[in-house]
Amino acid sequence: MKSNSNQGMAGVSRRDFIKASAALAAAGIGTSRLYAAGSDKIRVGLIGCGGRGNGALDNHLAACKHIGKDAQVVATADWFKGRAEGTGKRHGVPAEKCFAGATAYKDLLATDVDVVLIATSPNFRPVHFEAAVNAGKNVFMEKPVAVDPPGARRIIASGEVAKDKGLAVVAGTQRRHERGYQRQAYEIENGAKGKITGGRVSWCGGALWFQRQNENESDADYMIRNWVSFTEMSGDHIVEQHVHNLDVANWFIGRPPVTALGFGGRARRKTGNQFDFHSVDFDWGDGVHIHSMCRQINGTHGGVWENFVYSGSDKKVDVPDFEEHGGPYVQEHVDLLRSILAGKPLNEARNVAISTMTAIMGRIATYTGVTVKWDDLIKNKDSRWYNLTLKPTAEDFEKGPVTAPEDDVCAIPGKD
Ligand SMILES: NC(=O)c1ccc[n+]([C@@H]2O[C@H](COP(=O)([O-])OP(=O)(O)OC[C@H]3O[C@@H](n4cnc5c(N)ncnc54)[C@H](O)[C@@H]3O)[C@@H](O)[C@H]2O)c1
Repeated sequence: MKSNSNQGMAGVSRRDFIKASAALAAAGIGTSRLYAAGSDKIRVGLIGCGGRGNGALDNHLAACKHIGKDAQVVATADWFKGRAEGTGKRHGVPAEKCFAGATAYKDLLATDVDVVLIATSPNFRPVHFEAAVNAGKNVFMEKPVAVDPPGARRIIASGEVAKDKGLAVVAGTQRRHERGYQRQAYEIENGAKGKITGGRVSWCGGALWFQRQNENESDADYMIRNWVSFTEMSGDHIVEQHVHNLDVANWFIGRPPVTALGFGGRARRKTGNQFDFHSVDFDWGDGVHIHSMCRQINGTHGGVWENFVYSGSDKKVDVPDFEEHGGPYVQEHVDLLRSILAGKPLNEARNVAISTMTAIMGRIATYTGVTVKWDDLIKNKDSRWYNLTLKPTAEDFEKGPVTAPEDDVCAIPGKD
């Protein structure tokens, strides 16, 4: 198991940038460069100008500053024009480069941005990421990266294309860029703790926000505004939030689980179709079981953690002092940029897709009540789950009007 930290490369000069790009070009990796021709600034674009997108953009600009580079926000894209323009205005983007609508991401990718930040709801990620990679862009994308098995596999495939093109891909599973976690991963990797033999991971807290459909509002606009309530948009909160904790388990154990068996239910939600709680026994094989729980109900016991039981070890390990500038949310962008400069682009597509798939496996287990096998999602093409595709799909949103699933109708274990 390798930790994904990327150290060194402080204070890199413009000449180093060009040298790094030239080396990549010489290696046939012509698309990976930080500066568009004729520009001395890192040119960045944002797809999905909501809360996290704007935060990620600020984090990216802080990272550019930290490594001593100028940056320019070149274009923005959002389903809603007001959001694209709002972010654009804050960063001096001309109105004609603030794109809106279902294909706004294509308009943004047609500009000369060097780095694209993607922070829409997760259901659009496979399509947007694939397009960004095809357009030769370096990518930061928020987690989770899919809502169904074909989507997660599509991210893995696009990640491989990004690798071939020498593009950097960093995901918003920011614990992988957080010093405390990196130290622990280093200790595990170097034998200071022994093997993980069991554990528990949790994201339990209160209710999130939700939106009601306005009179005459299209189903598409409603689903996009109320995305944290619809499984088709978010993957359910076991995928949307709890993916962080499951990602740590995958990272530390060094492999994905082999099965999931769980239960869950819906108790207090009014809109959408998600469950309010999930409790899953993930079997990582080799006798390693991790209990995963997540809940969004006010007035209940909360906690976000990953606890592991180790077999133990007497080995002493000197742990390096991992950099964490501005917290993990900035550090992940520092790592992204430095990896490009070093000519060793980070590629986290597979890791985040595998952790997203892990969470999807948990959700299928709680929605159905049956034991779900990893191989049925990732390689057994005849399995019941391999082609499970949540609708409306991202492509449906581009084709025309979509129909929202009925509010307050959810999965029934034993039947679905
Ligand atoms: N890493 C973290 O800690 C963290 C924290 C919060 C959110 N997130 C993730 O960030 C993503 C966004 O969450 P948010 O809280 O910013 O949501 P949000 O609703 O505030 O923002 C999403 C934005 O994307 C836009 N959008 C939706 N579909 C689009 C499309 N097809 N094309 C263009 N724009 C589109 C919406 O109009 C909205 O402005 C989610 O995947 C979420 O899980 C990660």
